[in-house]
Amino acid sequence: MTSLFFGGFMINYKELEQKYSTPLYVYDENKIIEIMHDYKDNFKSDEFNTKVLYASKALSILKIYRLVKEHGLCADVVSGGEIFTALKAGMNPQDLYFHGNNKSPYELEYAISNDVTHIVIDSLSDFNHIEAAAKKLNKKVSCLIRLNTGVEAHTHKFIVTSHIDSKFGMLIGSKDLNQTLELIKKSKYVILEGFHSHIGSQIMTMEGFYAAIDKLLDYLKNFNEVLSLNIGGGFGAKYTCDDKPLEIKAIVNGLIKYTTEKLHQLNIKIDTLMIEPGRSIVCEAGTTLYKIGALKQTPNRQYYFIDGGMTDNIRPALYQAKYEGYIVGKENLPKRLVTVAGKCCESGDIIMEDTYLPDAEEGDLLVVKSTGAYGYSMSSNYNKALRPAVVFVHDGASRLAVRRQTFNDLIEGEIDENI
Ligand SMILES: Cc1ncc(COP(=O)(O)O)c(C=O)c1O
Repeated sequence: MTSLFFGGFMINYKELEQKYSTPLYVYDENKIIEIMHDYKDNFKSDEFNTKVLYASKALSILKIYRLVKEHGLCADVVSGGEIFTALKAGMNPQDLYFHGNNKSPYELEYAISNDVTHIVIDSLSDFNHIEAAAKKLNKKVSCLIRLNTGVEAHTHKFIVTSHIDSKFGMLIGSKDLNQTLELIKKSKYVILEGFHSHIGSQIMTMEGFYAAIDKLLDYLKNFNEVLSLNIGGGFGAKYTCDDKPLEIKAIVNGLIKYTTEKLHQLNIKIDTLMIEPGRSIVCEAGTTLYKIGALKQTPNRQYYFIDGGMTDNIRPALYQAKYEGYIVGKENLPKRLVTVAGKCCESGDIIMEDTYLPDAEEGDLLVVKSTGAYGYSMSSNYNKALRPAVVFVHDGASRLAVRRQTFNDLIEGEIDENI
């Protein structure tokens, strides 16, 4: 078998390799669209408005912003560059929410002058920068304040700690938060839209989200206005067979039900409830296709060396992320313990350590699954590696979304008087 079943169509990886070469990011567009609709069509309430913001740091290319726009989602953006790309793809600036703990004056002015006026305030100092930019441009901005609720979730566990030293957000009850609220009251440019919280990533249970909703709504009770809430992203994705993420419909139904009940209990209203899924939209829809080059047997390890590595997927080196894969055409052969390593000059450049794969030969094609989130978006030119191409497969046809870099791309922007 040389193919993967993609959105109802068989895709031949050998053909993709011949057409686009390797390494190659391959996305199943039908799957992304299906997931976007799972979120959007099920995250609905009769009592408040809802918005699904795609957390675009997971994959921030023109093609994905265009899909976000076409399928009626909004997006979370964290830099001038993400705003630029989203706008180039035709997104409505009012559908973008600008996050970040250190937005520069340049980025803020760029955002506001392009009508990106939904902004998330991260600190008192960030508020000052936002207000200064809005004042300079004489425009009003509508802001959510990112709160540190003290709830921190990771996979199956969540903890409620004082968590006072987080890089993000402001502690409920802190002097900085109270001062920011006072300043907003007096500001001619900054309007309070509501509050935001994000509790972690790759979360497989709902308890942490419910604990954060409790904190946010208990806090909201202190306000007379009807405000909005954004409860962040972090919904789990299936990287390996050990991961058991909840179904999207169950997640969003759970969030709506829990929030509605708590609102009734406290007798308060909200204007809009927002969520910000990133990886769960693009992770499983993406695979990376590599070619196995050299093989090496050391006393304790069989290595398969691939033509990519930490430059196209930094996650295993950065936080020991686990992946699974298979060799094209050898899916049903017996497997043994091997390690798949990249070609960078770093011992930590391992994509799959101690994984099970069949015997390989030089030239075999290896598919690594669930690489769609934070793969391309975190890729680098370390060792002057070329960033791979990105291909989207839709209704059986493949189309280039990002072309492979060339050597010339590697020196673009570099200055050498002799060239
Ligand atoms: C504020 C915020 N929202 C949303 C996300 C998306 O998280 P995920 O991709 O795990 O869904 C992140 C991830 O870092 C984040 O920091």
